[in-house]
Amino acid sequence: MNFQNLLALIPEDKFGAFHYNEGDSLPPEFHDTLHKLDVLGLKVANMVGYVNPQMCLFACNYGRPVNQHDVAVIKHLIMERLFFKSIADQIAAVEDAFAYTVQALARAAEANDEDTGNHIVRVGEYAAVLAEHLRLPEKFVRNIGVQAQMHDVGKVHVHPDILRKPGALSREEWEVMKTHPLAGGKILGDHPRLSMAKNIALTHHERWDGSGYPYGLKGEEISLEGRITILADQYDALRNARVYKPAFDHQTTYQIITEGDGRTLPGHFDPQILGGFKAMASRFEEIYEALK
Ligand code: C2E
Ligand code: SIN
Ligand code: SIN
Ligand code: FE
Repeated sequence: MNFQNLLALIPEDKFGAFHYNEGDSLPPEFHDTLHKLDVLGLKVANMVGYVNPQMCLFACNYGRPVNQHDVAVIKHLIMERLFFKSIADQIAAVEDAFAYTVQALARAAEANDEDTGNHIVRVGEYAAVLAEHLRLPEKFVRNIGVQAQMHDVGKVHVHPDILRKPGALSREEWEVMKTHPLAGGKILGDHPRLSMAKNIALTHHERWDGSGYPYGLKGEEISLEGRITILADQYDALRNARVYKPAFDHQTTYQIITEGDGRTLPGHFDPQILGGFKAMASRFEEIYEALK
């Protein structure tokens, strides 16, 4: 019997704590309730309970008559449960606000970039798919889904003329562009709650083979979250039109990532994460389509 069914059995003016022993005189609505329980296969000899619209708890057929002490125990259990539920609700609300703020900051940082729509949200989603596929802890999966959205916050320090330049960047412009990971790391600072976002900002352009920037880190010198996010970011950058490139379809993007196109090479990616992409590629396409 589910909660709603059970709740429907209890008259609203009887919400609260109660006890009942067989033979007690009862208001007529309770006779009806006991009868319905009987029909459901529960013959009630005695019962203590607590009911309100959020929660109900019953214990019945004690094998002895029940009394006010049994009611007090039930009440106590309910109060404790309500207390923990209120704390859990508050934690969930703070988590929500945190995720919302992260996204707001990521969006603010895009202001000067060309319009990339839901790019940041999709990058978080792909990263979470890869992390889940790699069987990383649930907390990591949830975190990367939120924090990978801030991978490019450092682009606020890159001049809009560079960000929006149609066509290839000059050597100088490219040097400026390559400062965005370090700028992002600086913006995100040292709060432990944002350490994943900081690692991602710093390392999302480092490549497994050591050819990336800003440090040219290699292999596992690159943070795991960075190794995941580079793949998520590139899939989405390839799917979209940019001022400097056309949009590619899923198949072409898959080929560029898995076989390379001269600029992107399979050796840029952690082989395990590249394997994860191959296995989960259809989810990438679904996310792109759903959050276009
Ligand atoms: P973004 O546009 O968000 O691209 C992120 C990453 O996706 C790029 O990192 C690159 O690894 C990959 N990517 C994007 N487009 C292509 C493509 O057409 N082919 C291949 N193989 N990979 C692609 P990268 O190269 O480090 O660039 C970082 C950022 O620098 C880019 O972010 C973009 O904002 C800017 N950028 C890069 N190249 C150019 C360019 O030719 N012109 C302009 N205006 N901006 C550029
Ligand atoms: C360059 O490689 O210097 C230009 C930026 C790019 O398209 O990768
Ligand atoms: C580089 O490796 O610094 C050039 C950028 C690119 O090839 O995407
Ligand atoms: Fe970037």
